[in-house]
Amino acid sequence: MDVLVTGATGFIGGALVPRLLTAGHHVRCLVRDRDRLSAPWRSDVEVVEGRVESEQAVLRAADGVDVATYLVHGMGSSARDLVVRERRAAAAFRDGVELAAVGHVVYLGGLVDEARLSRTSTHLYARQQAGVELRQGPVPVTELRAGIVLGAGSASFDLLVAAARAPVALSAPWSDSLTQPIALEDLLELLLAVVAQPPTRSHVLDVGGPEVVTYAELVQRTRAVLGTGRGLPLRVPYLPPEAVALSVASLAGVAPSLALGLLPSAAHDAVVRDHRLAEAYPWAARTPLDTALAAALGSRVERAGTQDAPVAAG
Ligand SMILES: NC(=O)c1ccc[n+]([C@@H]2O[C@H](COP(=O)([O-])OP(=O)(O)OC[C@H]3O[C@@H](n4cnc5c(N)ncnc54)[C@H](OP(=O)(O)O)[C@@H]3O)[C@@H](O)[C@H]2O)c1
Repeated sequence: MDVLVTGATGFIGGALVPRLLTAGHHVRCLVRDRDRLSAPWRSDVEVVEGRVESEQAVLRAADGVDVATYLVHGMGSSARDLVVRERRAAAAFRDGVELAAVGHVVYLGGLVDEARLSRTSTHLYARQQAGVELRQGPVPVTELRAGIVLGAGSASFDLLVAAARAPVALSAPWSDSLTQPIALEDLLELLLAVVAQPPTRSHVLDVGGPEVVTYAELVQRTRAVLGTGRGLPLRVPYLPPEAVALSVASLAGVAPSLALGLLPSAAHDAVVRDHRLAEAYPWAARTPLDTALAAALGSRVERAGTQDAPVAAG
């Protein structure tokens, strides 16, 4: 198949491209700046320069393509007008792929509680609204909704590792929010399967790993794999996620605007509510949490030569 990958300079898109190539697909990447695409597979793909907000750039990139993946978000820049910008970008992408007569759009969004949309974080609302925009056109969209993806290079995983390396184990009300992380390899396997299966209509599938844990437990499980001890417990009665975003961002080496966008989402449970994925793909997302953490920490060491070598996997 001919597959268009957006976000190829990012965590998910950059990991998906080599899997698509290995599976025998022909890959074209739409990137804002071709000089930022320095991956080893760079010479095996076609590259088109442009932004997803440009219908014309999308049309050019999607010409002759069977499946177009939407793996971008606008959180790197200011949080101002994020929802409007995300909707506008998704609408331009939708119109561009329609003009190019693409057969299927695959979008990776965030796990959101549709029943409590008015209370969700701006980041999750923007992700949900991007999906709504994409589905307004005639091209069928498969939207996978995931929580934290455990893999080297993920901003949310970097934030988790920074928390697990801190000497203090902070505990605030939002530490009790629930999360259902998924292993990067499991997500990629699922994306490959979805790309290969043309749908007749749009659908949304929640995806998550086999375990639901609180954020506090997730940090402790990461500490256990890292061997950094349980940390000095510190209970804070009220600690808005925004307040810790900037300090954790600097520890994690994550852009402050990205951390400020991501961390408020921790106040909301990010779990699978709709279990249709298990019917459609019963084999999907089975990697145990500790195994996924150990693999993610291991590949982080390989990538950056960090000191995060996992010492114990449960
Ligand atoms: N990482 C996770 O844990 C996670 C969890 C759930 C869902 N997701 C979803 O997965 C998708 C990809 O996330 P990620 O973690 O891979 O993000 P990422 O590493 O931050 O990468 C974002 C990508 O989007 C590109 N991009 C941003 N704005 C663009 C625009 N206007 N036009 C073209 N490209 C643009 C960036 O390109 P530049 O190089 O030009 O900046 C970059 O390649 C997002 O939809 C996200 O919500 C991620």
